Amino acid sequence: MAKHEKFSYGVSPGKGKNYVQLSHDAGVEASAIREILSVTQGRPEIISLAGGLPDSGMFESEKFLSILSDLTHGKCLDHKGRKIEAGDLYQYAPSEGVPFFFETLNAWINKTEDFGTLENENLLVISAAQQGLDLFAKAFIDPCREASVIVGAPTYVAELNVLGGRSGNLEIIGIPLDEKGMQVEQIWDLPKEKLAKCKYIYAVPTFDNPAGTELSEKRRKELIDISNEFGIPIIEDEPYACLRYEGKKLHSIMHYDDIGCTVRLQTFSKMAAPGLRLGYMAGSKELVSRIRVMLQSSTLCASSLNQYMLAEFMRRGWLEQYWAKVIPVYRERMNAMLGAMDEHLTPYGSWVKPKGGLFVWLTLNEINGDALFREAIKKNVAIVGGSSFFPPNSDKKLHNSARLNFSKSNPAELRTAIERLGAACAALDKK
Ligand SMILES: Cc1ncc(COP(=O)(O)O)c(C=O)c1O
Repeated sequence: MAKHEKFSYGVSPGKGKNYVQLSHDAGVEASAIREILSVTQGRPEIISLAGGLPDSGMFESEKFLSILSDLTHGKCLDHKGRKIEAGDLYQYAPSEGVPFFFETLNAWINKTEDFGTLENENLLVISAAQQGLDLFAKAFIDPCREASVIVGAPTYVAELNVLGGRSGNLEIIGIPLDEKGMQVEQIWDLPKEKLAKCKYIYAVPTFDNPAGTELSEKRRKELIDISNEFGIPIIEDEPYACLRYEGKKLHSIMHYDDIGCTVRLQTFSKMAAPGLRLGYMAGSKELVSRIRVMLQSSTLCASSLNQYMLAEFMRRGWLEQYWAKVIPVYRERMNAMLGAMDEHLTPYGSWVKPKGGLFVWLTLNEINGDALFREAIKKNVAIVGGSSFFPPNSDKKLHNSARLNFSKSNPAELRTAIERLGAACAALDKK
């Protein structure tokens, strides 16, 4: 997790210097991953397994271009059969979303998801999942009050940064993961006072970032039981569910929820393209209406142009076609990496084969993940050491780990990268 420090800067009005003290939020330091990515920039000899991005070579740029042309020339009709005018694309949108996108999205969710029919008041278009995480932290956590939030250990680094920035009075409770995801049964044993001040449980149930695990159905149900028992909302963040390489789709957490305690967050970043910056939140009408007002102070609305583009992309059935194209490619890359790991990394650690997503989590026997990062860079391969993904005060032994991404490199590059990583492990093992 990024460190948090008081931050001030000097200004020089007239003579002398004044120091401007910035807020707690502004004190969050850049994430270690950004620093790692900057080390690799301009060094083509380094194979990077450090990022978490989809392969930009596979984005549907030509299809988006044809849609933009058709929209601009008045060749597209909205959900009510009305012609979309070019000017509509560049206008402000209602804060809940452009009606064409909102209706297309709602119909698509009701057809493909398993949490029952959403009414309009249950749904809100947002500028991708990260905006949702930021708004939830602001909606639930009051910086002046003691609070706690439960997350997986490890978990998504930018959620840790959101939480760290939100409040200095916040305790982030990490619940360890095993091969079936967050060990939610451990939540029952947390001290009562921690549960009493818990604002939400943050879960990435399907192929999480960074560990690539899938939360078992039993644990999904148990999260709802915990939520019912202690009155704690659940945030179900699902960016990777569309990238399934094997096994059958499990029910969402929201599927088991009959009291409205789950907030569902889904992004089109991995489903279509992160540059669109589009996603949605679904939840109780009361919460959605509050977040809609907060969104107005944040971005007013998500990009109109991108909503029209994505709505038309979905209407043409191109979303599912994109998945059908990327899934076999990513599956092949993952298998190439896992095969090389069997060959080169077996003496140094263990891992669970993911069923989808973009990452393999390496648990190291003796080696610290940050030390491995430094050694690996010398051998021209970049990884992210595990420490970035744990809440503060987590057991340092858990930092004997690393996240390996397989979506950006081809199978041959992945095999070379893992061979180099094996050499880096061997070098550290001897020390
Ligand atoms: C678990 C998780 N949640 C949320 C996000 C944010 O994605 P976006 O803001 O692009 O939707 C990411 C991005 O990598 C992620 O891994």
